[in-house]
Amino acid sequence: MRRLPYLKLFLLLFLSLTLYYVFNYTVNYHKSNKNLSANVKVIDKSPKNLDKDIIDRIVISFVVCETRFNESLNVIKSVLLFTKTPVHFVIFTDELLRLQFNDTLTRWKSIVNNQLDFELHKIEFPKAHEEDWLNLFSKCAAQRLFIPKLITHIDAMIYVDTDTLFLGPADELWHTFTKMNSSQISAMTLEDDNPNISWYPRFAKHPFYGKYGLNSGVMLMNLTRMRDFGWVDYVTPIMLKWKLYIPWGDQDIINIIFHYHPRAVHVLSCRYNYRSDQCMYGDACADASRRGVLALHGSRGAFHGHKQPAFQAIYKAINEYEIGKDPMTVLTKMDQYLTEAPQSLCGNLKDAFLKVPVEVLTKKYTKPDR
Ligand SMILES: *[C@@H]1O[C@H](CO)[C@@H](O)[C@H](O)[C@H]1NC(C)=O
Ligand SMILES: *[C@@H]1O[C@H](CO)[C@@H](O)[C@H](O)[C@H]1NC(C)=O
Ligand SMILES: *[C@@H]1O[C@H](CO)[C@@H](O)[C@H](O)[C@H]1NC(C)=O
Ligand SMILES: *[C@@H]1O[C@H](CO)[C@@H](O)[C@H](O)[C@H]1NC(C)=O
Ligand SMILES: *[C@@H]1O[C@H](CO)[C@@H](O)[C@H](O)[C@H]1NC(C)=O
Ligand SMILES: *[C@@H]1O[C@H](CO)[C@@H](O)[C@H](O)[C@H]1NC(C)=O
Repeated sequence: MRRLPYLKLFLLLFLSLTLYYVFNYTVNYHKSNKNLSANVKVIDKSPKNLDKDIIDRIVISFVVCETRFNESLNVIKSVLLFTKTPVHFVIFTDELLRLQFNDTLTRWKSIVNNQLDFELHKIEFPKAHEEDWLNLFSKCAAQRLFIPKLITHIDAMIYVDTDTLFLGPADELWHTFTKMNSSQISAMTLEDDNPNISWYPRFAKHPFYGKYGLNSGVMLMNLTRMRDFGWVDYVTPIMLKWKLYIPWGDQDIINIIFHYHPRAVHVLSCRYNYRSDQCMYGDACADASRRGVLALHGSRGAFHGHKQPAFQAIYKAINEYEIGKDPMTVLTKMDQYLTEAPQSLCGNLKDAFLKVPVEVLTKKYTKPDR
C-alpha cells in the first residue's frame, strides 16, 4: 500500500478538527459578545458601540446645482420624517445655493435638536477636463464620481439623486453596509430585470454591469474601499473614451467600471430605489409589494410632470410638510393625494407606497431581520 492515502486521511482529520474548533470559537465569541452588549446597554453609557445594530450616525450626500434646490430640500425632509438616528448631510453645490442651504439647514437643525448636521462643499472637477465633466448629462451630476477623493475624512455614505425621497428609516439602508463583503465597495439596485423593457441591453453602446445594468440614483459608497480600489483614477480615462456614447453620464461610467469589476458591487433590492419603471408596466418589484417601498426615485421627472400621478402625490405631500410639525399630517396627505390622483398602473400599487410610512408613523415598524 502507498502512504499517500494515510497522509490524506490525516490531513482531513486535522482540517475537520480545526474547522470544529474555529466554528465553536466563533459561536461562543458571538454569544459572549451579545451578552456583553446587552449588559453595556443597561449599565454602561460609554459611547463605544459593541452592538453593531446600533448606528451612531448616518451620512447622506447629494450634488445639486441651479434649479433643484427645493427638490433636494425634500430629500432632507423625507429623511427627517422617518429617521431617528443623527444624520450628517454632505452637500456639493454652487456658491449661490450654499448660502441658501446654510440658512435653511441651520434653522432646521435647531428645530430638530441637532439630529441633523451638515457640511457644504463647492463643485470641483479636475481642471484638465472640466468642460467635458460639466457637459456630461446634467450639469455637475458627475461630481459624485470624485467624492472619494474630495472628502477623505468620511468613511462611507449613502449617495442619492436629488429626485429621491425616503419613505422609511435611512437606518435600514445604512445597515446594508454590514452585509457587504470585503470586495464590495458600493451597493446599488439594478436598472431593472425585465428583458422586454430594459434600457441597457437594448440600447447601450458601451459595457454595463451584468445583464441589465445598474441604476445609480441610490448608491451606497464605502469611500474607504473606493479609495483603496483607486476609483477616481478610473473615471477620467473612461469618460474620455466613451463620452460620445454615454447618454446617462455618471451612471454609465459607474456601469462601465462595474462591468469590469462585478465583484465590487452589492446588488440592492428594488425597494431601495423604486422608480416608475417598477410599476408603469405592472408590478415589477415584488419585494416592494411585500415589504413596502423604502426609497422612491422620481427619475425622468416623475415627481413633477403629470405622467406619474402616484409619484407626484407622494412628492406633493412631503413638499408641503414643514420641519417640526406633526409627521402624521404627511401620512394623511399622502393617502389623500394618492386617492385623488388619476388612475394609473403605479397608483394601483398605492399600498406599496404607503406601507412603510404607515408602519413607521404608527410605531408598528420593526426592522426586517435579513
Ligand atoms: C448570556 O446570557 C444568558 C442570559 O442572560 C445566560 O444564560 C448565558 O449563560 C450567557 N452566555 C454567556 C456566554 O455569557
Ligand atoms: C421653492 O420653494 C419656495 C418656497 O416654498 C417657493 O417660493 C419657490 O417658488 C420654489 N421654487 C421652485 C423653483 O419651485
Ligand atoms: C453659515 O451660517 C453661519 C451662521 O448662521 C455662519 O457662521 C457660517 O459661516 C455660514 N457658512 C457658510 C458656508 O456660509
Ligand atoms: C468601509 O470599509 C472599510 C474598509 O474595509 C471598513 O473598515 C469600514 O467599516 C466600512 N464602512 C462601513 C460603514 O461599513
Ligand atoms: C416579455 O414579453 C414576452 C412576450 O410578450 C412575455 O411572454 C414575457 O412574459 C415578458 N417578460 C416579462 C418579464 O415581462
Ligand atoms: C463578494 O460577493 C460577491 C457576490 O456574491 C462575490 O462575487 C465576491 O467574490 C465576494 N467577495 C469575497 C471577497 O468573498
